[in-house]
Amino acid sequence: MARKPFIAGNWKMNTTPAEAKALAEGVVGQLKGFAAADVALCPPFVCLETVRGAVQGSPVLLGAQNIHWEASGAYTGEVSAAMLKAVGCQVAIVGHSERRQFFGETDESVRKRLGAALAAGLQAIVCVGETLAEREGGQTKAVVERQVRAALQGLEPAAAERLTVAYEPVWAIGTGRVATPAQAQEVHAQIRGLLAERFGGGAAGAIRIQYGGSVKPDNAKELLGQPDIDGALVGGASLKAGDFVAIVKAAG
Ligand code: PGA
Repeated sequence: MARKPFIAGNWKMNTTPAEAKALAEGVVGQLKGFAAADVALCPPFVCLETVRGAVQGSPVLLGAQNIHWEASGAYTGEVSAAMLKAVGCQVAIVGHSERRQFFGETDESVRKRLGAALAAGLQAIVCVGETLAEREGGQTKAVVERQVRAALQGLEPAAAERLTVAYEPVWAIGTGRVATPAQAQEVHAQIRGLLAERFGGGAAGAIRIQYGGSVKPDNAKELLGQPDIDGALVGGASLKAGDFVAIVKAAG
């Protein structure tokens, strides 16, 4: 089954609104006329409105880096699906390893965030991946299986249409130490199998599985050439329009 590649830029805690505007305009300008991949930009919350203006009228999607499961209320520092939609978000990342590692996110909170994003009609990118200690301890498959199963628990099968899974080995994020295409493909194939168990083979064949972790213009093509790697979640290299666009074009 042909899956359209999906490349998302995770800007993390970078860019002021002015910097975000320039970066988004650069990406949109350099991607003019390019339709071979879906593209999303995920700036910090305070830059969403600005980036919305920059991507308006282009096929580039607007994404948030996180989302809370409640509609509103006393949840200091959190942002709801309705708020994200009101500023034009179409995509939300959930369960990024930095959220899990540094901000106490658990399989359970990730499941709730994912459910809320999908229930609200957003596309969701749910991140999974093992730490270096887990890989070296031979636990990669078990960790990924636990994270995927937990995240998908209770999801309506119809929601799978808006689901993307990002496999991001923690040891490859921001380290310059990229997984080899074979290492990534092996886990992507495992994830595809878990999706098939959960949603059936047809639906699983349509779900995009992104790789994330030190994706750069010079390694993107080989990674994206693997049969179950359907895109990339790009951190550092998404902060330079030229590098990010080169990665997008490697997918197309
Ligand atoms: P990186 O980040 O590309 O800087 O390794 C990827 C991510 O965390 O999504």
